[in-house]
Amino acid sequence: MTSSTHPTESPNADANPLAEGIGLLPPEPTVLIVFGAGGDLAKRKLLPAIGNLGMDGTLPDKFALVGVSRETMNDDEFRDIVRESLTAYSRRTMDPDVLDRLLERTRYVGGDATTVGTMHRLGGVLDELAGGEPLDRLYYLSMAPRFFAPVIETLGEARLISRSDPHSRVIVEKPFGTNYAEAAELNSRLLAVLDESQVYRIDQYLGKETVQNILALRFANHVLEPIWNREHIESVQITAAEDGGIGSRASYYDSSGALRDLIQNHLLQLLTLVAMEPPAKFSADDIRAEKAKVLRAVTMPPDDQIHTMAVRGQYGAGQIAGDPVRAYREEEDVADDSRTDSFAALRLEVSTWRWAGVPFYIRTGKRMPRKLTEIAIKLKPVPLAAIEGVRGAEQNELVLTIQPDERVTLRLLAKVPGPGMNLRPVTMDFSYGAAFLSQSPEAYERLITDAMRADPTLFTRDDETMAQWTIIEPILRLWQSPESTPPETYPSGSQGPESQHSILLPGDTWRAI
Ligand code: BG6
Repeated sequence: MTSSTHPTESPNADANPLAEGIGLLPPEPTVLIVFGAGGDLAKRKLLPAIGNLGMDGTLPDKFALVGVSRETMNDDEFRDIVRESLTAYSRRTMDPDVLDRLLERTRYVGGDATTVGTMHRLGGVLDELAGGEPLDRLYYLSMAPRFFAPVIETLGEARLISRSDPHSRVIVEKPFGTNYAEAAELNSRLLAVLDESQVYRIDQYLGKETVQNILALRFANHVLEPIWNREHIESVQITAAEDGGIGSRASYYDSSGALRDLIQNHLLQLLTLVAMEPPAKFSADDIRAEKAKVLRAVTMPPDDQIHTMAVRGQYGAGQIAGDPVRAYREEEDVADDSRTDSFAALRLEVSTWRWAGVPFYIRTGKRMPRKLTEIAIKLKPVPLAAIEGVRGAEQNELVLTIQPDERVTLRLLAKVPGPGMNLRPVTMDFSYGAAFLSQSPEAYERLITDAMRADPTLFTRDDETMAQWTIIEPILRLWQSPESTPPETYPSGSQGPESQHSILLPGDTWRAI
């Protein structure tokens, strides 16, 4: 092995992700083992991410890829799948030499990953690939969540992973449980085999460049931090709207819903980055400790008041970009009386010295007019009577657009040229594309690289996951009770259900999507 790091510390625990670029911290020689290699996520996201890393020269020299799934196929048949996936979904056109080098080091193991026999065959392939040299093992569980614990237990049984070996790590896909109890059980089963430092719970939002920029923006600019508190900020609004419906994912989505699909993980993570205190150092544990504190400071009202801070909706038929689309209940494999939320909106309170009294509005929905993920920070009105009544006087707003345009916009007021004092909002705009003239890497590229470098900063720690479920649980309980009001239907392509306005504090409004 290349270093003798203690398992509870990641080798790069002190690495500063703001100070050092992706190319400066070379990943350890690694074999990436993808369980569920024939699945949709692998084909559309993971394999193309590997291809792009190969194109960037970011893969370690001795990198190898092993696909594992139930299907029977040989190495060459799996290589064809990899080739097709890279050709169809990679953001860059693959250089034939890079592709050939990758395929040369690509292997396949077919079988049931919950049996020791399959794992022994996998072990043989891993030994061959290592050829007696040190090679980190990164196991990526891109499979149905019911397999997470059994597969890790079987890896443990077959001695392919152990808590005393920091050079074996696991990436666990979402969803991490479907409620608090399940997540707690999953954590305890994983942590019976592994040390927490070996578990990389993925949240693809943390891999997005603009999401990481929240910390840079907040903590590297003197102008923002002094106003980043309840004295100056009136509200925070986090939106993740999608124009798409659920497609063919009913088997997962209909038992999940918007609250669990996007808010429990991605949007609560965005909230932590906006609300956290500056970390002592930019290390994985310092950052994650501050994020966990925010989640623990979210106070939920008593059960009989949950309806005043959480509402849900479900899309009906309507139009997206002029084309008719069907209602949620008419989607393939969805029951006619499904009560699943395809839209959810919350008003949360972060009860800390910095944030007490500032509402954090969070909403997500499918079949909204367009895809848009943004964080809008609204500042209080200026405390000057002379400005208050002036035409055009609007409050300052800082908007971080995460997708589709990656940009930061500050709305300021300026005087309209001419006689008299009329104001008009103008914007200061920073666009990633224009400033850096480069295409941001896909979230999975960054996350897989970090896991290869043993840097868990952008992955969710066990205490964060549990704190996220603590927030979601009372809302879920209400929505799952048969007596609760069913989700309000909203037309596809609209701004969402009317009831979303009922959770706003007086004077607040939802931003238009
Ligand atoms: C996934 C959800 O986690 O995130 C999907 O399961 C959702 O339902 C997707 O569409 C959105 O991700 P992104 O990166 O496209 O915003």
